[in-house]
Amino acid sequence: MKHTKEKIEGLLERFGAPLNIFDEKGFAENYRRLYETMASLYGKYQIAYSFKTNYTPYICLAAKKLGAYAEVVSGMEYALARQIGYEERQIIFNGPDKGVEGIEAFLRGCIVNVDSLDELKAVQRAAEARPDGEYRVGLRVNLDIGQGFVSRFGMDETDVEAAFRIVSEVKNLRIAGLHCHISRCRGKEAWRKRTEYMLKLADRFFDGAPEYIDLGSGMFGSMAPEFAAQFGEVPTYEEYAQVTAGLVAAHYPSGNGPVLFTEPGTTLINRFAECATRVECIKAINGCHFAVLNASEHNLGETCTLKRLPVTVIPGGAPQTAYDSIDLTGYTCLEQDVLLPAYKGMLAKGDYVIFGNTGGYSTVLKPPFIRPDCAMVAAKPNGEYALIKKAETFSDIFRNYVFEDGTK
Ligand SMILES: Cc1ncc(COP(=O)(O)O)c(C=O)c1O
Repeated sequence: MKHTKEKIEGLLERFGAPLNIFDEKGFAENYRRLYETMASLYGKYQIAYSFKTNYTPYICLAAKKLGAYAEVVSGMEYALARQIGYEERQIIFNGPDKGVEGIEAFLRGCIVNVDSLDELKAVQRAAEARPDGEYRVGLRVNLDIGQGFVSRFGMDETDVEAAFRIVSEVKNLRIAGLHCHISRCRGKEAWRKRTEYMLKLADRFFDGAPEYIDLGSGMFGSMAPEFAAQFGEVPTYEEYAQVTAGLVAAHYPSGNGPVLFTEPGTTLINRFAECATRVECIKAINGCHFAVLNASEHNLGETCTLKRLPVTVIPGGAPQTAYDSIDLTGYTCLEQDVLLPAYKGMLAKGDYVIFGNTGGYSTVLKPPFIRPDCAMVAAKPNGEYALIKKAETFSDIFRNYVFEDGTK
């Protein structure tokens, strides 16, 4: 988003600083582009937005309005999906430990992908206790596509075989679909391999097509070119679609194939939230330069510790100095709280620094460490700003602590 000094100054004055800004129009365009690219190759494609990535209700609702299902991994996220109006059949419940809420969701008709034989046995017991109902379950499978590490999620093929054996003996339970997700593997060939693997498993274990195949997520999303350059190979949505939707369409030419899910999180939201911060202090120590910002790395999310986030500096009005290298650091007392090391450019106290690509794993992972979380606004397509998360306060953080010893 383009910002002027007046606009940023006004926003920070009105909503506090730092401030997360959600780009509603950009998010919707990105969503449609991903959806249309995939659906043009396979009509039974369905997006399930990964709530954990950024569960700000307004953002989840924006995804829902665009047609997304909800992908949740806890009772808390499931309750949120229900609260914003999702029907059970539009909720995919994943995760390695779903708890009693997972069983309840299963009984109510959510798409539940069990992660282990122990979870499968729990849903089996729940189904058997209600012999009058008809239930379905999905299996998260653990794929080795040469990713170079052993993932702890899902079931290997031996356990998948066992799962089909177990379920074949339960009258009112069937296995409806297969799910996978492979992290740290965003390349096109990795996606081709996972699709081929899933199709092979579907052929092996199902008579005809399963109800659904869920490929999880891990596609690169829309990124500014300077940012994308840090990741090496970044396939386009068209390229991802060829090795997912395209392969599934070719595999089921008669048109009676499964629903194909992917579960984008960062893919959808990362580029469409920014964090606006202000430079509070600049100092030199032993020839090194440091700027202290009124945000911490926790406001920006993990990506800022792995890559250099795109930044825009908006002069606040004080005379700037040209720096060859100045660390943009955070308000916490952690040495490692560096939002951007070795920034090169003009900077002054009072300048505004806008960090891009902060949509995923940021506000949901912001601990109450030292300071509560800041507010979030949505930049609406009509140019207005709406508060979508209030800044946390002292009482938000301390209301659950017991201040007095209650023993007598
Ligand atoms: C099961 C599952 N689905 C979806 C996602 C979201 O993935 P991404 O943020 O790469 O889009 C994750 C992320 O870890 C996941 O574990």
